[in-house]
Amino acid sequence: MEVIHVSAECYPVAKVGGLGDVVGALPKYQFEAGCYAKVVMPAYRTRFFETHELEIVHQAGMFLGPYWYHFNVWKEKHNTLGFDLYLVDVPGLLDTTGVYGYYNDTERFLAFQIATLDWINEWRHSPDVIHCHDHHTGLIPFLMSNGYKYARLKNVPSVITIHNAQYQGQFGWDRQYLLPSFDSWKGGLLDWAGAINPLAAAIKCAWRVTTVSPNYLEEMFNSAAGLESLFNYERGKCIGILNGIDTKVWDPATDPMLTANYDASTLVTGKEENKQALCREFGLDPSLPLISFIGRLVGEKGADLLPDIIGRSLYELTGRVNFLVLGSGDPHVEWSLQQTRQYVEDHLNVYIGYSESLSHRIYAGSDFLLMPSRVEPCGLNQLYALRYGTVPIVRSVGGLKDTVTDIGDKNGFGIRFIHAAVWDVCRAIGRAVSLYEDQEVITLQHIRQYSMQLDHSWDSAAQEYLDVYLSLTQKA
Ligand code: ADP
Ligand code: GLC
Repeated sequence: MEVIHVSAECYPVAKVGGLGDVVGALPKYQFEAGCYAKVVMPAYRTRFFETHELEIVHQAGMFLGPYWYHFNVWKEKHNTLGFDLYLVDVPGLLDTTGVYGYYNDTERFLAFQIATLDWINEWRHSPDVIHCHDHHTGLIPFLMSNGYKYARLKNVPSVITIHNAQYQGQFGWDRQYLLPSFDSWKGGLLDWAGAINPLAAAIKCAWRVTTVSPNYLEEMFNSAAGLESLFNYERGKCIGILNGIDTKVWDPATDPMLTANYDASTLVTGKEENKQALCREFGLDPSLPLISFIGRLVGEKGADLLPDIIGRSLYELTGRVNFLVLGSGDPHVEWSLQQTRQYVEDHLNVYIGYSESLSHRIYAGSDFLLMPSRVEPCGLNQLYALRYGTVPIVRSVGGLKDTVTDIGDKNGFGIRFIHAAVWDVCRAIGRAVSLYEDQEVITLQHIRQYSMQLDHSWDSAAQEYLDVYLSLTQKA
């Protein structure tokens, strides 16, 4: 079974968030399970591109509407990632240092999709499945079934995995001329609410639609950023498959980024050593419980609530807690966090920016990880926290609901709250601090030990995806 994952991100080549983690791990597990998984992504000029040995395996020209571009496909020579990696290089469009946020993102990802299909179309054989991720690759299923020049790929099954339906990649019909020619009777498949909507097109055209957790799929039927009716209409081909984590990259026993390595049996001293070092680095008192937040500082993650949550918790708990925030995003949220820090600098530190190694040290050195998300299709942070013996405090939403059981329930190992509202989050923080301070009952250690042993690896999800592919190839 040969599966081509097409994605805008893949760790460690280029990562902005969880999409990168998923596409860097799932193919590796699939490869180990005997499925020939490959990844195709843009050749951004990241550190990986500059430092790894690559070879050109394809060179051609392509049309983005009336504009002609030269493109190359690079392949990583030594397969250091556990799967074959191909980088689609369209100079002038994809050779950026960053991943998203450019004025011409629409053209950039259109070029990526067209170059990828042009190249696959040239192969002597057809792959068994093309697996697309998010809206950046959402036009591929449409073009495979309706693009005139891709007729050869018409019978190749396509899968779209939706990591976040908030982002749909819409653009106006005035830019239709940028697309390769397609059967004009099928143009309606591209449309949603009067615009070309790549995510909607993918839901309509892919053979199978997956979301990154079962509960997120349930939510999509009622609230999907305008796509609810489409999800309901296509319900029959949708399935929620819970993300896993790469337990080789995220392993406190071997993680080279930590101050001290530990496993479930050495957790008490190991975590303490990491906490001491982290608190020293950020000027916080290590005897107090440390609650951290890691993530994009955007409304979706509830990051705008953090300044008020921190202020109110410190007031209600008379300063018996510390906070550490790692993230970047909305400038206003960044600014409010810096302002809050000025008032409570003994209890809060903030690192604005992106740091992979600091994130590992925070997962290991914190007591709790806070996720007040308004939307969370799966969430990987809580899974990393569990693996590092850090108790997640999460809103009951999306994949957080599927992965975190409250300590009030049987075998619970996390703290859940219902509302993305300051009072409810503070109540949950109050429960966390009581758990931490309740030294006589050694519940906290039990919870940590238990959570470190939970299996969140990709093994079972990789099998679920394989079952999806098999059901499609039998149909093809
Ligand atoms: P999302 O993809 O919506 O941002 P996820 O929970 O799926 O959320 O994944 C986020 C990933 O990005 C995790 O690996 C997390 O550790 C990482 N991450 C987010 N922000 C930062 C940051 N500022 N520095 C380092 N890692 C970060
Ligand atoms: C998205 C979602 C996040 C999910 C990640 C990986 O970025 O916001 O919840 O974990 O994709 O699937």
